[in-house]
Amino acid sequence: MTQTTDFLAPARLGRLALPHHLVMAPLTRNRAAADGTPTDLMVTHYTQRTTAGLIIGEASTPNAVGQTYPNITAIHTDRHLAGWRRVTEAVREGGGRMFLQLQHGGRVSHPETTGLTPVAPSPVPLQETIFTPRGHLPAVVPREMTVADIRATVADFAAAARRAVDAGFEGVEVHSANGHLLHQFLAGNTNRRTDGYGGPVERRVRFTAEVTEAVADAIGADRVGVRISPGNTVNGIEEDDTDVLYPALVARLRDLDLAYLHLVHADPDTAVYRRIRADWPGVLIGNPVLPDLTTAGVTRAAAGMLAAGADLVALGRPFLANPDLVTRLRLGAPLNPVRDRYLMYTGGATGYTDYPALDDQPSSASMVALDGPRVA
Ligand SMILES: Cc1cc2nc3c(=O)[nH]c(=O)nc-3n(C[C@H](O)[C@H](O)[C@H](O)COP(=O)(O)O)c2cc1C
Repeated sequence: MTQTTDFLAPARLGRLALPHHLVMAPLTRNRAAADGTPTDLMVTHYTQRTTAGLIIGEASTPNAVGQTYPNITAIHTDRHLAGWRRVTEAVREGGGRMFLQLQHGGRVSHPETTGLTPVAPSPVPLQETIFTPRGHLPAVVPREMTVADIRATVADFAAAARRAVDAGFEGVEVHSANGHLLHQFLAGNTNRRTDGYGGPVERRVRFTAEVTEAVADAIGADRVGVRISPGNTVNGIEEDDTDVLYPALVARLRDLDLAYLHLVHADPDTAVYRRIRADWPGVLIGNPVLPDLTTAGVTRAAAGMLAAGADLVALGRPFLANPDLVTRLRLGAPLNPVRDRYLMYTGGATGYTDYPALDDQPSSASMVALDGPRVA
């Protein structure tokens, strides 16, 4: 386990040597073609960010019904594979390393987008609107998955993982966070099942465990990470037993020898963080809560994450707005602010590939280099 709080020191992730401890968190940006195939713009975006220690590529759907929103990336056809290969080749050429996140939206999906009725552990609709090609529409009641659906979905994740590795990714991240299908199985308000996949925590963690095991069997456990977000209420999730749910999940996953476990909103002051860190024997990636997006704020949060026992630090918005984030943190240089939120999910280069690097900014000549990161 890492002892350093110097997040710019070299690190390891299994067989991968990383230049430092900073990981680019998965960031959905809706810049894929209508069928989910990565575009030239995406090649540019990821190539700009190859100095991340590891890039976790944005949520990519493993089957048609799992698609959340329009222009989300996918990885279930050969066309998707070929599109992603262009991204991974460019990232590798730029000296980077990349995993791909596999995400099934479950009830966070809409027939207007997929032409299909969304599926979920139980027929409990999201009490929110969902973005579709016709704008924001009320969510529909999802169809309860049968055991045959569950088995087929597990197989789809495994097939998507194989495609991801064929496309040149170093591995995949199973998305069991942020209110998507796997999280819907974990949480009591979205999982009302009475069969072997619902009820007590040991049964609610089963679907995430089976997906992860199947993916690990398909591509090797050392190429598989899992992302979780204990207590996160996004997408209508309500957990009333976070403190026992996640230890039960970790107990199912801990002996698989996975590449890593990735924690969203990792807060060292919470009991669930401390319990997961104590129980998880492998690499823990912490995605810290960022009080602000300044150089000092990000530096403090990243160092604090390592001090709290995380092995690597994942950052989302800082990488979104700063293609050269690592250089900026190394120099103590100011960070670009995140531009309008609506640009996050619209197509096009604006707010995506046009964030400047220091070299693009005339004022960088007067920037004073500091000795390593500023840790307050
Ligand atoms: C534009 C945007 C897109 C995101 N897409 C994903 C995603 O595809 N998968 C995921 O697990 N989290 C996603 N997230 C969450 C981020 O990975 C990260 O957990 C969150 O932004 C908090 O980290 P930060 O404070 O460093 O930005 C997204 C966040 C943003 C802002």
